[in-house]
Amino acid sequence: MPVIEANNLTKRFGPLTAVDHVSFSVEEGEILGFLGPNGAGKTTTLNMLATLLRPTSGTATVNGHDILEESDAVRRSIGFVFQDPTLDIELTGHENLDFHGRLYGLKRDVRQQRIKEILKVVQLTDRADDLVKTYSGGMKRRLEIARGLLHYPKVLFLDEPTLGLDPQTRRAIWEHIQRLNQDENITIILTTHYTEEADYLCDRIQIIDFGKIVALDTPDKLKARLEGDIVSLVFKDSAAIPKIKPLLEKKGWVRRVDEVASDNNHAAMSRMMQAMRGMASGNMGGMMPSMSFGGAAGRSKIPKHMPQKIVQGIGGGNGENGRDGGQRRLNLLVDDGGHRIPEIVKLVDRTGAVLESVELHKPTLDDVFLSVTGRNIRDERGSFMETVRRYRIVREARGQHVRG
Ligand SMILES: Nc1ncnc2c1ncn2[C@@H]1O[C@H](COP(=O)(O)OP(=O)(O)O)[C@@H](O)[C@H]1O
Ligand SMILES: [Mg+2]
Repeated sequence: MPVIEANNLTKRFGPLTAVDHVSFSVEEGEILGFLGPNGAGKTTTLNMLATLLRPTSGTATVNGHDILEESDAVRRSIGFVFQDPTLDIELTGHENLDFHGRLYGLKRDVRQQRIKEILKVVQLTDRADDLVKTYSGGMKRRLEIARGLLHYPKVLFLDEPTLGLDPQTRRAIWEHIQRLNQDENITIILTTHYTEEADYLCDRIQIIDFGKIVALDTPDKLKARLEGDIVSLVFKDSAAIPKIKPLLEKKGWVRRVDEVASDNNHAAMSRMMQAMRGMASGNMGGMMPSMSFGGAAGRSKIPKHMPQKIVQGIGGGNGENGRDGGQRRLNLLVDDGGHRIPEIVKLVDRTGAVLESVELHKPTLDDVFLSVTGRNIRDERGSFMETVRRYRIVREARGQHVRG
C-alpha cells in the first residue's frame, strides 16, 4: 500500500488556485520531490497532507489515515520540517528536542533515550547543550530534522530543506537526508526550487507549476526527454535576440529554441539584497505589502513611481526594464551540439550581433523545467512579501552568530 495517496487535492485562496487537482502516490522508502519555483504551491500541498491546512476539495491518505477524517493520526505518523525556521534559539539543542518530545507525549525515559539516539544521527551530540543561537545554519537545519524525527515517524516532510544554505552545507544536509532514507528507512517527501537538489536526492520528481503537476518521473528519465545538447548563447546586447531566434529555428538540427533570463541563484540573491537595502533606506515607503512583480504571465507590476534603483534591483533578472534589466540568453536544443557551435557562431556573426559567451552542456533539470513550462525556474514570481520572507530565512540560515 502506498504511504501517501493524494486525489485531486485543491486549495483556493480567494480567486487564487494555489494547488490545482494534484494527484500522486508515494511508495514506502522513496524520496519524492516537488520541484517548482517560488509560489508554485509546494508548501500549500505539504501543509494539506500534514493536516495543517484544509483542502478546498480533494483528499488524501497518509500512512493509511484520511487527512480529513483522521487528522490526529496523520499528525502523529509524520515528521515535518518547516520552510521557516521554528527553533527557539534561546534554548539549547537538547531543550528544543525535549520540548517537542513533551508535546508529543513521549515519556521522560523514552524521550531522553530517543533524543540521544537522534542527536547522534544528525551528528549534534557534542553541541546538544549549547544555545541554538550559537549554531551555524547547517546545524540548525540538522536540529530541525532531528526534531521532526523525534516521535519515530516513518514519513518525513521537508519543506525546502536547504533554503539559503551555502553549497557545502547544502551537500552535507543532502547526505544526512540520504542516510535517513537508506539507514533508517524513512520515506521522504521534500520540496525544493533547487534543480540540483532534486536531481541529487530524489527517486522521483514531480514538477509543479502554478499549482499543477506538469511532469512526474525519475531525474534520469526527465532529462532523457530532451535528446541532444544544450547550446546556450549570451549576447552582448539582448536586443539582437528577436532577430536571431527565427534564423536558428529554421535550422533542421535545432530541435527547440528558448529565450530565458540569464540568471542564477547568486544573481537572484544579489537583486534581493539590493532591494532590501533600498527598503532599509526607506525608499519603498508604504507600497510594499500589495506589490508583486514578475507575475503569472511574466509581466512586472512594479509601480511607475518606484525609484529606478530599486526597480532594477528587484526586476532586473527578468529583463523587463530595458537594457539595464539583466541579460537574456538563447538556449538551443541541438543534435550533436559540439559540432554545431562553429556554424552557430557564424550565423550570429552574419547578423552583426556580438556573443558574450557560448556554453555547451547536457540537458539538466533546469532545461527540463523550461521545456515543460516555457519559463526559467529561477524567474521570480512570488509576491514581494514572500520574497522578503525568504530573504529573512536566507539571512537567518547564513547566521550572524556562526560558530563550529
Ligand atoms: N494563506 C494564504 N493566503 C493567500 N494566499 C496564499 C496563502 N498561502 C499561500 N498563498 C499563495 O499560494 C501560492 C502558493 O504558495 P506556496 O504553496 O507557499 O508556494 P511555494 O511553497 O511553492 O513557494 C502563492 O501564490 C502564495 O502567495
Ligand atoms: Mg514554500
